[in-house]
Amino acid sequence: MKDFLAVAGQAARAAGMLLRENIHGKREIAYKGDINLVTEMDMRSERTVVKTLLASFPDHGIMAEEETMIQNGSGYMWIIDPLDGTTNYAHGYPCFSVSIALERDGEIIVGAVYDPMRDELFSALKGEGAYLNGAKIHVSHVDTLIKSLLATGFPYDRKVSKKNNMNYFHDLLMASQEVRRDGSAALDLCSVASGRFDGFWELKLKPWDVAAGSLIVREAGGTISDFSGTRFSIHDDEILATNGKIHAQMLETLQQSGKDANCGMPRSF
Ligand code: IPD
Ligand code: CA
Ligand code: CA
Repeated sequence: MKDFLAVAGQAARAAGMLLRENIHGKREIAYKGDINLVTEMDMRSERTVVKTLLASFPDHGIMAEEETMIQNGSGYMWIIDPLDGTTNYAHGYPCFSVSIALERDGEIIVGAVYDPMRDELFSALKGEGAYLNGAKIHVSHVDTLIKSLLATGFPYDRKVSKKNNMNYFHDLLMASQEVRRDGSAALDLCSVASGRFDGFWELKLKPWDVAAGSLIVREAGGTISDFSGTRFSIHDDEILATNGKIHAQMLETLQQSGKDANCGMPRSF
């Protein structure tokens, strides 16, 4: 397993350095939706990651966000977000990451998330703890919601879907110390893992947004579930990741908010 993690780290660093070197270059931007953009750097980063992984593990499967899908029955599947935080990147806002996870027979066993601007590599191997640049990390000890720093994000279909997070955002903003919207879900999860955030929730994320980060949170001692609190899958529509201590309080707020939701609009705006 250590070899898997070493190569994942190498791939994340190589792609991350490419992203960092080019952050101020002229961008070629294409749109996947009215506000969901993609740059040529998403593709270049993905090609760097895929090339590095396949050089060491030529018979593994790959599911990457932009253009790579290799399904070959090997039992191994790399799940890759080559640039998590594309909107930030396109604006030159230095908060983005490269996220790489390895799934074996349906279970995530390796996670690596690299923040090129801070040179921070978050990593975890199933059952062996979570690390930041090689030093062990742990979730925070904050145990009340009102003292918690939270993070979230909003789905790209927020203008047309009623499930747009506005109700949850309103209620958790009122119930916590603060809520941040940083723009890279993979890094948000790593911030929970390293105790910088106490909790994070979001709707409609994709497997590549959460595969690596969810393992890193769990290995750092955190808790992950859907909004019912009963299960979690990287294919789910809901994610709640916390330090464990505020999980029940966040669930209660989310569930109450879900019940009260008035067509996705915050009640008292
Ligand atoms: C996005 C980021 C953002 C989250 C979006 C994601 P992308 O990923 O993780 O924080 O709010 O839902 O899609 O598009 O930059 O790879
Ligand atoms: Ca993403
Ligand atoms: Ca992406």
